[in-house]
Amino acid sequence: MRTARDFRCGLICLLLLFSVPVSVGASPSPPPVGEMIAPGVVRFFATAAERAHARPSLCLMSPHPAPIGPIPDSWPITPNFGRVQGRPTASVAIAPGCDLYGTGEVPGPLRRNGTRTVAWNTDAYAWNAGSMSLYQSHPWVLAVRADGTAFGVLADTPQRCLIDLRGGIRFEASGPTFPVIICEGENPQAVLRKLARLTGTMPLPPRWALGYHQCRYSYTPDSRVREIAREFRKRDIPCDVIWLDIDYMDGHRSFTVNTWDFPDIKGLLADLHADGFRAVVIIDPGIKQEPGYHVYASGQRIDAWVRTADGRPYVGTVWPGACVFPDFTRADVRRWWGGLYGPFLDLGIDGIWNDMNEPAVFNVPGKTMPVTNIHRADPELGGTDTHARYHNVYGMLMARATFEGCRAARPVRRPFVLTRANHLGGQRWAATWTGDNVATWRHLDMSLSMVMNLGLSGQPLSGPDIGGFAGAGSGRLFARWMGIGALLPFARGHTGKGNIDKEPWAFGPEVEATCRRALQRRYRLLPYLYTLAREASVSGLPMVRPLFFADPADPRLRDVDDSFLLGDDLLIVCRTSPDSAPPDVFPPGNWWRVSIVPGDLDDPDLPAVYLREGAALPLGPIMEYSDQRPLDAVELLANLDATGQAVGQLYEDDGDGYGYQSGDYRIIQWSVQDSPSGPEVSSRVLEGGRRDRMPQATAHIVSDHPGKAPRGTQKTPDGIQSPD
Ligand code: NOJ
Repeated sequence: MRTARDFRCGLICLLLLFSVPVSVGASPSPPPVGEMIAPGVVRFFATAAERAHARPSLCLMSPHPAPIGPIPDSWPITPNFGRVQGRPTASVAIAPGCDLYGTGEVPGPLRRNGTRTVAWNTDAYAWNAGSMSLYQSHPWVLAVRADGTAFGVLADTPQRCLIDLRGGIRFEASGPTFPVIICEGENPQAVLRKLARLTGTMPLPPRWALGYHQCRYSYTPDSRVREIAREFRKRDIPCDVIWLDIDYMDGHRSFTVNTWDFPDIKGLLADLHADGFRAVVIIDPGIKQEPGYHVYASGQRIDAWVRTADGRPYVGTVWPGACVFPDFTRADVRRWWGGLYGPFLDLGIDGIWNDMNEPAVFNVPGKTMPVTNIHRADPELGGTDTHARYHNVYGMLMARATFEGCRAARPVRRPFVLTRANHLGGQRWAATWTGDNVATWRHLDMSLSMVMNLGLSGQPLSGPDIGGFAGAGSGRLFARWMGIGALLPFARGHTGKGNIDKEPWAFGPEVEATCRRALQRRYRLLPYLYTLAREASVSGLPMVRPLFFADPADPRLRDVDDSFLLGDDLLIVCRTSPDSAPPDVFPPGNWWRVSIVPGDLDDPDLPAVYLREGAALPLGPIMEYSDQRPLDAVELLANLDATGQAVGQLYEDDGDGYGYQSGDYRIIQWSVQDSPSGPEVSSRVLEGGRRDRMPQATAHIVSDHPGKAPRGTQKTPDGIQSPD
């Protein structure tokens, strides 16, 4: 093992010249000890003794990643470890022009320089731009240097942790000292791939999970659920999933059904299925402390609960009243919890929503359980310890137990789990949404940077409550939110109890027409979205990407909040305030504005969609739900490059199940070329052994004069030029 002292001298001279000083008030520290744990990834400890006594990581795939060698001589970054008022710190200096991102689920701007975040999972109803802690914790910062090269800094601690980006990068944790992992990459994408190798990728979701979801707190009774489903089909508005919030339960007891409002839930869900809907239901971790309630009784038998410091089951109040809380740090508890899903899913449930799992507790300071509570964790997580160590991973471990339970109960289907609380690495088990937002323009705006920063922190599948959970909001705001939300990875409309209705038709015919177009766009784009989801599941690259992914060295693209890239090929330009002009910052190249469905170019409430030069975008048919029809024909929108070519890819499989893991999938690549007789399309299979018929592709060229047309020129799929 070598120390990092050797590399530091030269670096420190450089940093003295160029960097902002950090670790204010920290006492001097000995040189850290580093080891390479993957190519371009180095883990540092404050001292050799700390390395020798390292506790298992709770966010990495491997709790104790094995060293693969010493640090290379050219390694550029070494953290400074120190202490401030007894708390361990780690800091990394940054040079001018270095922009910071990530830090998970955070409100405010995309670019995080100058911000402070406290990684501490918190029930943050109606959070705002100044909220320092939301529902999830991602002690991770992505740094993009002026030249477009990048690095990432991961503070490997589950404890409450301040991420202070006011002068460089500084972590300050409440618990013991922690290792710091640094990933180096030639661009941000390379760093995110490294993060994915360390913390895992999301599992490939079932294709229906990329459709539109309709939720509210709560659709009851069953006749209301049927009515909502009927309205979608009657009004020709695409929708895949109806959600049941806590009032479907009997007295808010998880794994029960309120038979007064839902006398035949099996029949209800069967009818939804017959109409092409799936059903996702909520399950909370607080278990009512009530003899005779089957979940409480079976949990009691294995003494499943988190304990107080003096050894009694901890009791806190949540929706059902006095509750105990499963200790998900124990594998036997996770197995028990997972086992509860088998009979429950048999009711016809397709996916699970885990909520309140920070864990939220009502009417107590900090809205959670005391940090002195005790978890009897398995040794591989670090053994028995206080809630201070396990708080930030409670929701992640619940989601894991849910995912594993659903997987075991229905091995031939892909689980779909949505969780509110999570931690770095938790994308392996669940998607997320951005919690209880508010129906304001500011919140619409913040939803974009939140989804982007989650993606830059390893979580590709997220979205806001479309329309806002708290507060009414105007029809215009709702229309804009649907327009944008329909192009984010997870698209769900939701709103709070007692709030106004927020279904796509609730604000009258004009807003309904915008919502229909917005969702029809999403369904036309499903083949592309599914291809991006598959890419994220393999590489860890986010589905929604900040503009600087197109050119990380271009300083103009670093702080664009209200445009984003969907994959590499689409640029989505949004208007997130009532009267503002859309942002006018474009990545290099000739981006063409395209129409995805009739009328979308003329709808001022829909974001503008631009196609990258050289890209061929596969569009599917407009459908009512994602598997209404097989994808036997795709339409390619092609924006030819200077050589007159455009290329696009499509990932295809059964849309559910695991056949793809044994080769039953296909990645098709199409090339479109202009010719005097019209566009010529050729295809080849890049990967996979799927045998069914390939989809037929027809192409529309949207750019007549490659490289010459002004940016912003637009064409409909049928080739008709329309004004920008
Ligand atoms: C809090 C969640 O954030 C919200 O989405 C949900 O509707 C309520 N809990 C009720 O379950």
